Amino acid sequence: MGKLLYSGKAKQMWSTDDPEQLRVVYLDQATMLNGKRKDHFAGKGAAANDISTLVFEYLIQQGIPTHFIKHLSEKEELVKKCDMIRLEFVTRNIVAGHFASRFGLKEGTPLAQPVEETFYKSDELDDPFANESDAIAIGACTADEYQKCWALARQCNVLLTKLFAKAGMKLVDFKLEFGKLSDGSLVLADEFSPDNCRLWDLDTNAHLDKDVFRKNLADITTTYDEVYQRLQKVVTEED
Ligand SMILES: Nc1ncnc2c1ncn2[C@@H]1O[C@H](COP(=O)(O)OP(=O)(O)O)[C@@H](O)[C@H]1O
Ligand SMILES: [Mg+2]
Repeated sequence: MGKLLYSGKAKQMWSTDDPEQLRVVYLDQATMLNGKRKDHFAGKGAAANDISTLVFEYLIQQGIPTHFIKHLSEKEELVKKCDMIRLEFVTRNIVAGHFASRFGLKEGTPLAQPVEETFYKSDELDDPFANESDAIAIGACTADEYQKCWALARQCNVLLTKLFAKAGMKLVDFKLEFGKLSDGSLVLADEFSPDNCRLWDLDTNAHLDKDVFRKNLADITTTYDEVYQRLQKVVTEED
């Protein structure tokens, strides 16, 4: 079974017999305001796991280095254990969320170029914004790691914008996390699910992500299942 190493807002991380591998358990819960509100949703963990597995397998196929090893069961996956970089790498293609209020722009405004924002991962501090010099000065990463993570994030943006467009969705914004393997190499880690990105229907702009929970618009599990089905259709057609 292993030992519970960490229980977060969306997942648990368990040790395995192999010191370099972790078992991830996706939880049936959704949180907002950095965990201040938390609700239970049956089937949400499995749907997030399905979507993240599909996205990571797609990115691996396209040459992106990741922590992903395999899908183990409905709610579990096996990953390579990382020394995590304590930063969130946020890319924005269309104005939404905090970016809209910060710059007084309407949600949905297109951007002249993708916005790249880095935040220090700390629930206690509410994930403060950190620019490159902040991140390096506080020891969150080195200058080289910062550049390499953003280079990977840019590649992911190109690949995933295309993938989601084929599945009838706009990739409005998304958050990535990176970690280092025991040999020091950088890999994309954590998860990619509608918990960590905004997806809007290509035709109607309907929310297909965690905003349905934040704004009480629709059932979160049904919404995530729909995203998974749309993506699955695209990847099976491509095979
Ligand atoms: N491959 C990995 N190795 C070690 N830690 C990881 C790996 N992938 C993700 N993590 C970390 O495990 C935790 C996942 O649980 P999650 O519920 O997302 O936590 P949080 O509430 O901190 O966002 C996060 O802290 C994430 O940074
Ligand atoms: Mg998380």
